[in-house]
Amino acid sequence: MEAGCRCGLPFYNSAFESGLPVPSDELLFPGRADGGDFGHSTVLRTHTCGELRREHVGQTVTLCGWVHSYRDHGENLVFVDLRDRYGKTQVVFNTEEDSRIDALARRLRREDVIRIAGEVRYRGDDLVNPRLATGDIEVRAHELTVDSSSRTPPFELEGSDLPNEELRLRYRFVDLRREPLQRNLIVRHQITQAVRDYFNSRDFLEIETPMLGRSTPEGARDYLVPSRVHPGSFYALPQSPQIYKQILMVAGFDRYYQIARCFRDEDLRADRQPEFTQIDVEMAFVERDDILELIDGLVCQVVKQVRGIELPSPLPRYSYADVMERFGTDKPDLRFGMELVDIAGPAAASDFGVFRSVLDSGGRVRGINAKGAADRYSRRLLDRELKDFVGEYGARGLAYMKVAGGKLESTIAKFFPEQSQQDIIELMQAEDGDLLLFVADQADITSAALAALRNRLGRELNLYDPDAFSALWVVDFPLVTWNDETQRYDAEHHPFCQPHRDDRDLLTSDPARVRADSYDLVVNGCEAASGSVRIHDSKIQQQVFDLLNISEQEAERRFGFLLEALRYGAPPHAGIALGLDRWVMLLTGDDNIRDVIAFPKTQRASDLLSGAPAPVDDHQLRDLHIRTDSPDQSILDE
Ligand code: AMO
Ligand code: AMP
Repeated sequence: MEAGCRCGLPFYNSAFESGLPVPSDELLFPGRADGGDFGHSTVLRTHTCGELRREHVGQTVTLCGWVHSYRDHGENLVFVDLRDRYGKTQVVFNTEEDSRIDALARRLRREDVIRIAGEVRYRGDDLVNPRLATGDIEVRAHELTVDSSSRTPPFELEGSDLPNEELRLRYRFVDLRREPLQRNLIVRHQITQAVRDYFNSRDFLEIETPMLGRSTPEGARDYLVPSRVHPGSFYALPQSPQIYKQILMVAGFDRYYQIARCFRDEDLRADRQPEFTQIDVEMAFVERDDILELIDGLVCQVVKQVRGIELPSPLPRYSYADVMERFGTDKPDLRFGMELVDIAGPAAASDFGVFRSVLDSGGRVRGINAKGAADRYSRRLLDRELKDFVGEYGARGLAYMKVAGGKLESTIAKFFPEQSQQDIIELMQAEDGDLLLFVADQADITSAALAALRNRLGRELNLYDPDAFSALWVVDFPLVTWNDETQRYDAEHHPFCQPHRDDRDLLTSDPARVRADSYDLVVNGCEAASGSVRIHDSKIQQQVFDLLNISEQEAERRFGFLLEALRYGAPPHAGIALGLDRWVMLLTGDDNIRDVIAFPKTQRASDLLSGAPAPVDDHQLRDLHIRTDSPDQSILDE
C-alpha cells in the first residue's frame, strides 16, 4: 500500500510503511528536516531505524531495535527488518564472513532486541523498496549484539487479523508496538503540544488542581479514596476540575488551563472511559463569545496542523432549539443534510389513522428523505430491521413511501389524498427515486428515532466523506430538564451555569424554558467539548439551587467552599472543557477510545495489563478502617 494514502493527509509521510497515516518528521521534530540530525546519536546508536537515506551510503552506523521480520536466504545471507518507533531498516548479515555472527543471526526471533553496526549500502536499482522510507538502502552488518531475546509474541504485529481486544489489552506492551497505536499516541502528543503552545502564547497559566478532593458536580458516580488519617472519610477523585478552576478565577488567575485527568464511574460506551483527559479552560472578565472565539482559534489551528483541513472561522453556531428541530439531536453530524421535516399538515389531512391519532394526542409526525434510496432497502429490511432499529428509540412504527412518477408509492399511500401527497413531496423536497421515512410519536421520540435513523442512513448510503470534518457550536441549551423519575429538575450541564440574561424572569414562572449561557462543540456528531458562563452572583446561584431543589444545607455540604469563595469578590467568568481522548479519535479517524489511550480500561473498567482493580491485603484495609462486604463476584458478572 502506498504510504500516507489512507486519509490523503498532507502531513503524513512514509516514515512508517503500512500506509497508515503518521505525522511527518517535520511535525514531530520541528526544525529538523527529513534525513537531518535527529539528535538520537547516543553511545548505543548513531541513527534511528527510520532515518537512513541514500546520502548515508558508505557510512558506518549502529542501529538498535526490535527484529520485525526475519528471512534466512540460505546462501549465507540473513535479512532482518529492524524496527523502532521511527521506522524500519533492512539489515543484512553475511553469515559466511563471521562464525559468531552466523551463530547469533541464525537464532534471531521476531521481537528480539538487537544492536547492529554496519555499513550503509545502496540496495541497487532493482531492489529499492519504494514503500519503505529507508527503502533505498540496507545496512550490511558486521557486528551483532542481542540485548534481549523475546518470547514468541502472543499475536502478529501486522495484518488485519488482530486477536480479540482482551488479548491485546493484556499484552499491551506488544499491542503498543503496532503502527496504528504508535501513530495514535504520536498524534495525541502533537495535540497536547499544540494546545499548550496555543494557551501559553495567550497568557494562560497551566495550573494543577487536586486529584484527592471533594466530590464535584458533573453528575456521574465518584471514585472514592478512603482516608487513613480521617477514619470513615473519603476523598473523591475529580470528575472534572470544575470547582477548583472557578476558585482560581476568584483568586485572580484570570486565564487558566490544564490537561486534566478526570474520573467518572459511569456506564462505559465506545467513546467513554472511566479515566479520561480534558483540556480544561477557564477565563475571568469574559463573556460567552470570548470563549467561543478562543476555542474556534484552537480547533482551527489543531485541525489544520494535524489533518491539513481548513475549517471555517468562526465555526458555525446553532441554537439548541434549532438543531433539535432540524436534526432531532444536540449532536448533529453536519457532514450531510437529510434534515427532519414536520408533515403535520398533510398528515392531518390524510385518512391514515396512525398519524392522525398521534397528532390528536399532541404528538408529531416527522420524516426524513433518503435521496435516491427508493431501491436501496427491500420491504423486508424496512418492515423489520429499520422498524426494529427505530423501535430501540421508543418509536412504535416506521412508515415509508417511495416517490415514483411524481406520486407516493406505499401500502399506506391510499390514505393520502392527491393534495396531501403533493404537499409531502413539496415539504420533503422529494423527487422520483427518493425514499421517505416517517415516525409518528411524542416529540422527543420522533427526534431520537429519526436522529438515529439519519445517522445510520448517512453512513449506509455513503452520504459523506468519512475523512471530512464538520465542527459546530450548539448554544443556548435549556438550563434544566425535568426528571420524571425523581420528579424534579436536573441541571442540564451543572448547577453553576448562568441562566440566559433574557430568561431570568422565567426562573420561577417557567423554568423549563430558561436557556443557559452554555455551549457544546460538536464534531462529526460527537460532543467534543462543553462549557458555560458561570454564575458569579450568589443570589442567582441561590435561585438556581432552589430550582434544582438543592437545599441550603445540601449546597453548603457539597459546594460550600465554592459558594464561600464567590462571596469574597468573584469576577464574571466562563470556561469549557474539551475531551482530549475524543479529539484524538476524531483526528485519527479511530472509532475506539481505547486505541488512543496508552493504557485504557475495558468496558467493565478493568485494566487487563495490571489486573486492576484487585483485592488488597487485609492489613491495608485495616489501616484504612475498612471492612468489605462485597457480594459474590459471580453475581456481579451476570
Ligand atoms: P463535561 O462533563 O461535558 O463538562 O465534559 C467535557 C468533555 O469531556 C469529554 N468527556 C469524556 N471523554 C471520555 N470519557 C468520558 N467518560 C467523558 N466524559 C466527558 C467530552 C465532554 O464534552 N466541567 C465541565 C466543563 C466546563 O463546564 O468547563 C465538564 O466536565 O468530550
Ligand atoms: P399498521 O396500521 O399498524 O399496520 O401500520 C401501518 C404502517 O405504519 C406500518 O408500516 C407501520 O410500521 C407504520 N406505523 C405504525 N405506527 C407508526 C408510528 N407511530 N410512526 C410511524 N409509522 C408507524
